Amino acid sequence: MAEDNMRNRKEPENGRFNHGMDSQITQEKPVKATMLQKDVGLVSGVSLIVGTMIGSGIFISPKAVLLYSGAVGPCLLVWTGCGVLSTLGALCYAELGTMITKSGGEYPYLLEAFGSIVAYLYSWTTVMVLKPSSFAIISLSFAEYASAPFYPGCTPPAVVIKCLSAAAIWLIVIVNCFSVKLANYVQNFFTAAKLFIILVIVGAGIVLLAKGNTETLSHAFEGSPPSVGAIGLAFYNGLWAYDGWNQLNFITEELKNPYRNLPLAILIGIPLVSACYVMVNIAYFTVMTTTELLLSPAVAMTFGDRVLYPLSWVVPVFVVFSTFGSANGSCFTAGRLTYVAGREGHMVKILSYISVKYCTPSPALIFNGILSVFYIIPADINTLINYFSFAQWVFYGLTTLALIVMRFTRKELHRPVKVPIVVAGLMVLMSCYLVLAPIIDKPDLEYLYCTIFIFSGLIFYYFFIYCKFSWASNFMRPITMHLQLLMEVVPPEKNE
Ligand code: ARG
Repeated sequence: MAEDNMRNRKEPENGRFNHGMDSQITQEKPVKATMLQKDVGLVSGVSLIVGTMIGSGIFISPKAVLLYSGAVGPCLLVWTGCGVLSTLGALCYAELGTMITKSGGEYPYLLEAFGSIVAYLYSWTTVMVLKPSSFAIISLSFAEYASAPFYPGCTPPAVVIKCLSAAAIWLIVIVNCFSVKLANYVQNFFTAAKLFIILVIVGAGIVLLAKGNTETLSHAFEGSPPSVGAIGLAFYNGLWAYDGWNQLNFITEELKNPYRNLPLAILIGIPLVSACYVMVNIAYFTVMTTTELLLSPAVAMTFGDRVLYPLSWVVPVFVVFSTFGSANGSCFTAGRLTYVAGREGHMVKILSYISVKYCTPSPALIFNGILSVFYIIPADINTLINYFSFAQWVFYGLTTLALIVMRFTRKELHRPVKVPIVVAGLMVLMSCYLVLAPIIDKPDLEYLYCTIFIFSGLIFYYFFIYCKFSWASNFMRPITMHLQLLMEVVPPEKNE
């Protein structure tokens, strides 16, 4: 592979540029193939899942879930349901990920099952909107909590929050561009930190339960049941806290022993998060009535103030850690999707290049960072979360449908993990419900804009991928060349 590497570097007609630095590297130390390395083991895999899933949601969303579900009982059922749904979804992804061991999340599965157009529309929507907007949302929560102590008694100015979240986005992008290992260390550290604070909250909750603080929990099912649409919205908010369960499928090619580590990390990570979330919610209800919870601006803070005083400051500090870690995980995987889509010719080529020095997909990471910064400008976090979930569930549904379709069309593929097909069927049905229920309940125009946006990708598909105009590649060639020299990136070597 190293020989191959050197050969490629000497021949610029392969699309690579031979710059002095390459030969320097070649002489000094044995060269790693210029491709993404298999650097992610089981612990890092679990921590990528857990660390992205636990972000700000569990500290903020309980309020919205309770609001839409109406009472404590339905609220806890929604949280449990979200956990079950995420686990079922992830099991389907374990089958897909061990059957098609390519990075890029849903993209390679949709490509295999439904062909180029569907995969393109997925990558178009996810690269342009879903990934950068989720990165922006988490960074905004980070900035909100990080700036709060400097503005006691009032909310920090919007401009401070936005600048701080932009700074966080760039810091994370830089870390990810420099080293996969460093990004993994950052991820592991912050995952440990967030598990710690969750354990503190759960531990405190258990003590309070034992002391008999069960007043709120004993009226669990009082009041009128919520409407079908409201349950959908309650699920959306809960599922936002669970979002990230598919993270490992974005980096399958970088996993050591994916056949073992992918399903194992999923089976450890997601039930762990689900159990934590349900217990944290029970803990909240041991100190707050439903009205208090609904009035609290940030549930975890109120919990900290009431239970952990004089150490209540630990809660916001750890929420800051938690959001930062989750943003790091989002950035890590977003870069991989952009990279894979670029490799397949569905994005401009430069996005599929990787750094010669650091073996990271730096153009893809930087592109995602730039888009994310745009998304923090108009942000209203809650609306963003609702529309984010709508489009996201369209693709989760399509991907599990891809699993079912491939059971018939690609029978010959080896499936080290095989889930019962009813599980996939259930996921498809749930996705349909989650996509349709809020629209039927409250048909906002925004859902239409979202749909128009998804299909507008077809215009680009037609001009740049289907027709492949030569003027477009003539136009891109010098730009690609200059960016390549500037960023010291080359096309990845083929993985044999
Ligand atoms: N679940 C996370 C939270 O509660 C958000 C994850 C965002 N999703 C993603 N794929 N990065 O903050």
